[in-house]
Amino acid sequence: MAQIIDGKAVSEQLKAEIGAAVLKLKEETGVQAGLAVILVGEDPASQVYVKNKGISCKQCNINSIEHRLPADAKQEDLMALIDKLNNDPAIHGILCQLPLPKHLDENQVLLAIDPAKDVDGFHPMNVGKFMTLKKFSDMADAGVFLPCTPYGCIELLQRSGVKLDGANAVVIGRSNIVGKPVAMMLMSLNCTVTICHSRTKNLADVVRAADIVVAAIGSPEFVKGDWIGKGATVIDVGVNRISDPAAKSGTRLVGDVEYAAASENAAFITPVPGGVGPMTIAMLMKNTLMSAQRAAKK
Ligand code: GUN
Repeated sequence: MAQIIDGKAVSEQLKAEIGAAVLKLKEETGVQAGLAVILVGEDPASQVYVKNKGISCKQCNINSIEHRLPADAKQEDLMALIDKLNNDPAIHGILCQLPLPKHLDENQVLLAIDPAKDVDGFHPMNVGKFMTLKKFSDMADAGVFLPCTPYGCIELLQRSGVKLDGANAVVIGRSNIVGKPVAMMLMSLNCTVTICHSRTKNLADVVRAADIVVAAIGSPEFVKGDWIGKGATVIDVGVNRISDPAAKSGTRLVGDVEYAAASENAAFITPVPGGVGPMTIAMLMKNTLMSAQRAAKK
């Protein structure tokens, strides 16, 4: 049976480390790390995310400032707010919660955030800088921010002691926020990476040859347990709600991998929930700390 990679425990450990580093930075330089979170409208899932970000900031001693705009906010109001935050020295990270209401131009918003405060790692400047980075470990000095979910996958692998050097990694999914960046990160850490997607031929066979499988397709239990090779590591990024008459709520969360069957073959596996999920916010905290450390050096 596979060893469970406990993302909740790793994220708590990481947040404790970040919290200590934030205090140390304040003591040594006077710089208090600050994160601004912008929420436009009332999307229930976004409200939960934003609330959780506030709680994590507290745990990490990061100053958290929430800006709530009405669902009918104008593009120019949002742009003016971002401009103000870009120029506020007390703010080291700016995160605009996505998705935005349909009438707003998401791309213009992401481009407007100062790349030096783009703790989501979504600005094309950060994407481009990351693509040209020679070594993963050069990131802090290069002034790059990595997107939080794929960065969290890497942190889980590294903290679990999974061997990356020379490993065959198969990434299923090619999105800009997970598939593509996690593949680039694995490559920069010396994995041989195969990126698979809906048109990949013989997907089961490709996955069977993997030492590391990252599933990020957003389809419940799409990756079958018998696709997982003996001793492989499985990182399941999927969060899918499916109906389950036996559950009290009538639904439950599953990942992109058939968890129970995959556990019989894998050496390490992340559960859903409690695997990659809690790592995303932890890496956001890490990026905010890194941004404040860079600001203190200037
Ligand atoms: N909405 C859901 N996840 C995220 C995230 O990581 N960043 C932003 N900006 N919006 C999100």
